[in-house]
Amino acid sequence: MKERLFSGIQPTGGLHIGNYFGAIKNWVKLQEKYECIFGIVDYHAITVNYNPEEMRRRILDCAISYLACGIDPEKSTLMLQSLVPEHTELAWILNTVTPLAWLERVPTFKEKVSQNPQNINTGLLDYPVLMAADILLYKSVVVPVGEDQLPHLELTREIARKFNKTFGYTFPEPREITGKGARILGLDGVNKMSKSLNNCIYLSDSPQVIWKKLSTAVTDTNRKRREDPGNPEVCNLFSMHKLVSKKEEIETVRRGCQRAGIGCLDCKKILAENMSQELEPIREKQNMLWENLKDVEDIIKEGSNKARMIARQTLKEVKEKIGLYFN
Ligand code: TRP
Repeated sequence: MKERLFSGIQPTGGLHIGNYFGAIKNWVKLQEKYECIFGIVDYHAITVNYNPEEMRRRILDCAISYLACGIDPEKSTLMLQSLVPEHTELAWILNTVTPLAWLERVPTFKEKVSQNPQNINTGLLDYPVLMAADILLYKSVVVPVGEDQLPHLELTREIARKFNKTFGYTFPEPREITGKGARILGLDGVNKMSKSLNNCIYLSDSPQVIWKKLSTAVTDTNRKRREDPGNPEVCNLFSMHKLVSKKEEIETVRRGCQRAGIGCLDCKKILAENMSQELEPIREKQNMLWENLKDVEDIIKEGSNKARMIARQTLKEVKEKIGLYFN
């Protein structure tokens, strides 16, 4: 029997190459080895300000991107968090075994408070408990996540431990898989790629748009003139090369940059070409899926139903363990 895996992405807008190279591309491979459940975690996405009119499109966009990248509904379960009410139900129960102090010290909470002081809602604080519920609801044992999510996963294990100790063994403690490979930043070369920072290449960008964005992207800021040698190791675009270019090209670019043999613009041209080649099939598949929304909706609904069967069982067991009358 395969081990169960859960991961999810918030539908906060179009998916970008940070999501793709940092998560989904790896998920596609993990589908072979694990019993995978991939969530569109919309209840997480509403903890920050958003426009309700855009949410429907964002959810579809997320599902379509999953599918276009190669998440296969025959192999994996693709589900929408808000269609499986057991997520929020379990989150409530887990709230009652989670000390407030654990949540107050979570780094992402502190960050969001400083970034968004006008909307510090309770959901923002409680975010990691809902995430723990996402994972534990399926008794998942593996969770592929980015580095920034490790504190959340640690907290998930603590919550599982506390629940098990209080009510008897119920949840396995999940372990993380963190993707290897180059980590890419946004086009500003400083921040994580993020829609709100307007520094993304989206999976829906055409080759023309990709070129336009890359041509103005920040490279090694110490390389001021074409004649200056550059340092590929500190250049965000070189990290992108490592993801999409062939070995020989990467070496040519590396040496060319170090010896001022090639300029940033030439380097970017090669990169834009390779990036477009990698993304073009995904973009075409996305366009096709936008034409077949009914199929996409069916996949979301079926996947969520499938997830719900597991979720119901866990919740039944949990309700029994915590002493509720009916379960
Ligand atoms: N917090 C995750 C992120 O922002 C998204 C997420 C929600 C998640 N629930 C999850 C990831 C469960 C893995 C498992 O990236």
